[in-house]
Amino acid sequence: MRLASDGADIALVDMNEDRMRVVADEVQTRGRRATIFRANVMHREEIYAAVDHAEKELQGFDIMINNAGIVQVQPLSHVTPDEVDKIFKINVEGVLWGIQAAARKFKQRKQKGKIISASSIAGHEGFPLLGIYSATKFAVRALTQAAAKEFAADGITVNAYCPGEVGTDMWVEIDKRMAEITGAKIGETYDKYVGGIALGRAETPEDVAAFVSFLAGPDSDYMTGQAPLIDGGLVYR
Ligand SMILES: NC(=O)c1ccc[n+]([C@@H]2O[C@H](COP(=O)([O-])OP(=O)(O)OC[C@H]3O[C@@H](n4cnc5c(N)ncnc54)[C@H](O)[C@@H]3O)[C@@H](O)[C@H]2O)c1
Repeated sequence: MRLASDGADIALVDMNEDRMRVVADEVQTRGRRATIFRANVMHREEIYAAVDHAEKELQGFDIMINNAGIVQVQPLSHVTPDEVDKIFKINVEGVLWGIQAAARKFKQRKQKGKIISASSIAGHEGFPLLGIYSATKFAVRALTQAAAKEFAADGITVNAYCPGEVGTDMWVEIDKRMAEITGAKIGETYDKYVGGIALGRAETPEDVAAFVSFLAGPDSDYMTGQAPLIDGGLVYR
């Protein structure tokens, strides 16, 4: 919604078609075009198809945002190979295929472009019970740095954003699983983390979107390979 307000036409890609339709309608009420494409980001061919779809439907392709991700709350002592496989396929391979597909499309179109991916505070610091999730988000920073260097000569910038504690469905899941594992009450883990935020409140999707808007716009043209924290003061680097 923020990028639509900034003036972008939007191609939504997710597995949840109902939610995409709601967002697409809202984008259109703001006077921008919107199109939806159902894809599972762990499958490279589906991301390539999504990028082709976006270019065809919107007659252009300028910004790629690799936002989809999942969380797992699990002590390292109990993590299974299937769990590791699944979260790496979505959080790391999903971002890799997104970077690859977008860079290929920008080069094909002989234009510059911006690639932006979701890392996390957990991409700068390993958190207990979130060890594998943290590993995937460190990997997003590694891909961001390497891709920035590989694609700089093509006029493509590659950056990431590292949110803190955002009150989305993901945190509902984290709080529930933490409660199961530690015996905390529902809401207690969420509140404990909020207590560690210098600015004294949880992050909103709008806080994240404001920074993504900067990364997507011309004011960040001289920035590449970075993954700044946007977390209200929780992790300091
Ligand atoms: N919520 C937080 O506190 C927080 C903090 C730091 C980073 N992040 C990162 O921000 C991003 C967005 O998180 P969120 O809080 O909005 O999560 P969310 O769970 O609320 O939403 C995730 C979205 O990704 C989609 N998705 C999941 N797996 C997919 C797949 N395989 N293919 C396609 N779509 C898929 C879901 O359908 C959903 O729409 C994630 O990468 C997450 O790791 C979130």
